[in-house]
Amino acid sequence: MIHLCNLQEKLTLTDMGILMTAAVCHDLDHPGYNNTYQINARTELAVRYNDISPLENHHCAVAFQILSLPECNIFANVDPEAFKQIRKAIIALILATDMARHGEILEAFKQKVDNFDFTNEEHVTCLKMLLIKCCDISNEVRPTEVAEPWVDCLLEEYFMQSDREKSEGLPVAPFMDRDKVTKPTAQIGFIKFVLIPMFETVMKLFPQIEELMVQPLRDSRDHYEELKQIDDAMTEAQKKKTENMSLGRKKK
Ligand SMILES: *[C@@H]1O[C@H](CO)[C@@H](O)[C@H](O)[C@H]1NC(C)=O
Ligand SMILES: [Zn+2]
Repeated sequence: MIHLCNLQEKLTLTDMGILMTAAVCHDLDHPGYNNTYQINARTELAVRYNDISPLENHHCAVAFQILSLPECNIFANVDPEAFKQIRKAIIALILATDMARHGEILEAFKQKVDNFDFTNEEHVTCLKMLLIKCCDISNEVRPTEVAEPWVDCLLEEYFMQSDREKSEGLPVAPFMDRDKVTKPTAQIGFIKFVLIPMFETVMKLFPQIEELMVQPLRDSRDHYEELKQIDDAMTEAQKKKTENMSLGRKKK
């Protein structure tokens, strides 16, 4: 996205360092169970962070623990005042990846996009937050053969969580339930209602993302809608077959 949107000509070198560091670090030590689980199960992380974005706070804290090691400190030559700013900005970006804040962050950017000002710090912060969000959930922008195996991994993670929620008597979301969700149903809603609206908003500022990001999302949506039609037809055929079998038994 940096190159596609020509950010090296629009943002400072510091901002690029902030974006890339936050992107690399934003999911460090992720346990594979989401914030809702952490809070409902009252895990150590939820208790430590008082239920406030426990995971993202943890990813960020781990990032700065690593950066505090002399052999890992890529900011060793930055003066203390600049480091304070960089640290603050990286924290803001990693915390912005909490999907519970998706609506809030997208709306804040929408308010600015029509009069976007690259010299306005608040505008640029808002843009960086949206950019890291786009990259975070960009799997479906990639070609199907790259994206689909990762959807399998994602569902695997959801199923692990919902199984654990069931066994611990905690609330389970239908979209994570192995008895309810399928690959197409999991992806269609997310692509239509989260990804396309967000990338189309970024497209207002960077029209060049349409061809390489927005169109692939539309294609992916169409691909999963076709798969869903096949799934639905098979379920329907299976239902008819079962009905006929029970009718047959009654006749006898
Ligand atoms: C996290 O899991 C819960 C189920 O415990 C679900 O309701 C919620 O939507 C999930 N959050 C995200 C961001 O996927
Ligand atoms: Zn992530």
